[in-house]
Amino acid sequence: MPKFSIQGPSQLQGEITVAGAKNHALAMIPAALLADGESILSRVPDIRDVKVLLNIVENLGAKVHHEAGQARIDARALSSSTIVPTQSGQARASIMLIGPLLHRFGKATIGHPGGCAIGRRPIDQFLAGFQALGAEVQDTGEAYEFTAKQLKGATYFFPFVSVTATEALMIAAAGIPETTLLKNAAAEPEVIALAEFLKQLGAQIEGAGTHTICITGSRQLQSSSAAMIPDRLEAGMFAILAASTQSRVLIKECNPEHLESLLKIFELMGVNYKRGADWLEILAGGVWRAPGKVVTHEYPGFATDLQPPLTVLLTQAQGATLVHETIFEGRLFYVDLLNRMGANILLCDPHRALVQGPTPLRGKRIESPDIRAGIAMVIAALIAEGETVIDNIYQIERGFENIEARLKALGAKIAKSE
Ligand code: EPU
Repeated sequence: MPKFSIQGPSQLQGEITVAGAKNHALAMIPAALLADGESILSRVPDIRDVKVLLNIVENLGAKVHHEAGQARIDARALSSSTIVPTQSGQARASIMLIGPLLHRFGKATIGHPGGCAIGRRPIDQFLAGFQALGAEVQDTGEAYEFTAKQLKGATYFFPFVSVTATEALMIAAAGIPETTLLKNAAAEPEVIALAEFLKQLGAQIEGAGTHTICITGSRQLQSSSAAMIPDRLEAGMFAILAASTQSRVLIKECNPEHLESLLKIFELMGVNYKRGADWLEILAGGVWRAPGKVVTHEYPGFATDLQPPLTVLLTQAQGATLVHETIFEGRLFYVDLLNRMGANILLCDPHRALVQGPTPLRGKRIESPDIRAGIAMVIAALIAEGETVIDNIYQIERGFENIEARLKALGAKIAKSE
């Protein structure tokens, strides 16, 4: 099994370019299936999660060509409406394919969608949302069978905010020649970018970026092209990595406007930075103050995906911080790994951890639990004295393109081996 060996402590320096957003690409691939022609997606990150979803789409009969950051997707030859459990289990985003499959075939079957081990990951919101649009859903135990001769426009209120459920219903609604109103919808930048693409295909959409989205779709959607927005979670992770290692790093081709909540925390902590329209520079050196409390929240609040990296930075700050993870109930268990490395973190309950800093960290042999906790372990390893070996780096490579070479270019002592 491939692993990373990282020698710390390491001070990094230089520039790093942010990749296209994983979570934007994962919504755009299903959206491209609505079009009657070939859509071209660029700045598509070359990562496992994207490859898995493209592979599922190809198995459904679409023509897919993915090379050098560009994915060409032509769904005219779609021939199957079934996503088998072994495939859906590898990609939670596969559930966003249901809308296009229902439009094309009037039916769709999918095994339970997988995803990171960060909580229960139920799909009740998707099922209720598709039912509101007129689909019937049968749970056979092995798979979910959706049928709908024709989906219809509807008003659907999400009982709580869900990013991919919002995106799945937007994609489905874009193919319905009636109006759909989504209330309590997610407002993430990836949702706005998806709406822009669906508009290019021919749907009318208002309100993306607010909690009420109005979509009037069409049965005739034409293909289009679009570039993925910069990955705000990768940019935020690099910023935290730079602050954690007391490094001066210029993060290029990002959108600092998508990182306001993180930058606010940096200000409270005394982490100095400069920003421009599409760059963010973390300035080296300083004594970090504990911000006292950090609460994850839907956008524009502090992203749950940045919580594990930030917790590593908090181990280096003076004082105590309560980290309150409100979105997922399984996204704090990695703190045991940090404690093994020397951190002083009390897991109060599955949603709250109390970090007492500053604590020196020591290299250890550890496992990467999921994408975000995995990259947090890389940051911890760069701070730690001695060698850290991280197993299960498959979990890191699902979300970050060529991370080893990019960190090496900043001066990190990181090696990958089998
Ligand atoms: N939820 C339900 N039922 C549903 C759907 C969601 O109970 O049917 C719950 C979840 O269990 C969670 C909350 O709703 O407690 C919010 O989850 P959400 O549905 O927003 O998460 P998601 O759409 O599955 C996306 C990202 C995640 C990111 C979350 C939160 C994609 C492909 N994934 O997941 O990204 O953490 O939003 O922002 O966009 C990652 O990139 O590492 C990652 C896990």
